[in-house]
Amino acid sequence: MFKNFWYAIAFSEEITEAPSKHRLLAQDLVLWRASNGQVRALSNTCIHRGGSLSQGKVEDDNITCPYHGWGFGGDGACTIIPANGRGKPISKRARVDSYPVEERYGWIWVFPGDIPEEERVPIPDLSFMDDPEYRSVSGEWTWNANYERVVENGTDQSHTPFVHGGVFGDPKAPPVEEFEIEVGEWWARLTVEQFSPNKPAGKLTQLFPKSRAYKEDEPTPPVLVKTAFFFPSIVMIDLTIPKLGRQVIWDTNIPVDEHTTLTKWKGYRNFYKTPWADRIAKKMIVKVFAQDDRVVNEIAPELIPTELNGELHLRSDQMSLEFRKIKQKAVDLGYSVLGTSEGTQSTKTIIASPYRREEGLENSWILPATPEGSTSL
Ligand code: FES
Ligand SMILES: [Fe+2]
Repeated sequence: MFKNFWYAIAFSEEITEAPSKHRLLAQDLVLWRASNGQVRALSNTCIHRGGSLSQGKVEDDNITCPYHGWGFGGDGACTIIPANGRGKPISKRARVDSYPVEERYGWIWVFPGDIPEEERVPIPDLSFMDDPEYRSVSGEWTWNANYERVVENGTDQSHTPFVHGGVFGDPKAPPVEEFEIEVGEWWARLTVEQFSPNKPAGKLTQLFPKSRAYKEDEPTPPVLVKTAFFFPSIVMIDLTIPKLGRQVIWDTNIPVDEHTTLTKWKGYRNFYKTPWADRIAKKMIVKVFAQDDRVVNEIAPELIPTELNGELHLRSDQMSLEFRKIKQKAVDLGYSVLGTSEGTQSTKTIIASPYRREEGLENSWILPATPEGSTSL
């Protein structure tokens, strides 16, 4: 798992003035919306006696620990220690890590890391998600699997006829058609034409069983499929369906810990935009998740092998290879973190926030920083 990347960890509407707990990279965060509308993200562990801040209350834009009432501002610095009485100086060491937050595309993005802004990989441009021409549905899916296996699955073309036969792809025609791959610094995108079985009449029947765009004997034209990942955790599946329109699914695959992934997805379509079709669109997307879940949850080893040759790769696995190559860049930058940031039963580590680099705050941290993880893929 990797620190020092932006992660979309919640839908905008989930974050209110009431604190909520969110687990990311095996660490709990507390999020709340301040009175100016900005979202705050702090380490959830109070540095006094380890109270869970998300159980506390937000008062005057400070989060108050439920245990002894210490208050922490949005920057993580303690502002009040009730047992000391008002007006007493507060130690600089009374602070918790506070992480950068952005709100974009209907998601709350948190940056669990400490590198300066100019070194951060920017949030990908997903402005498509703000396009009013599309109607959207959204939902969640929890996997008992490592997020990298989930992300790879999202861009894996050759599994579709087998895992999703009838919805995507034809099990009787499994070869992957000629495809194109574009690779960016932190992303890759595949474009391919996907044939579906003629009977039933391709995706349309699956999406909207009561309507038929094709006659029984008319061959179903291919669907233009684009799949992409934006390292580490965003996946896009973009389908242009002849005679119907376009459906694009975006998902953020949140590494809750090494063994658990929480996917928050949004599905967009530019056809059948009336609310009655939402239920059908959602049902189809959930069905696809359920089909993948059965397979992905049982993959062994659970984590991607540390060596490229730990698995056999074919031409049709090129997206997985691109993912692994990009992942190696993150490893080389020293961004990997141990999957068990909880430490031992009597110690706890915290992913360092940018405040740890501020002058004068070097020695202000009660809880040690989470150590770097493995040094190779
Ligand atoms: S544990 Fe948070 S104030 Fe004591
Ligand atoms: Fe799949």
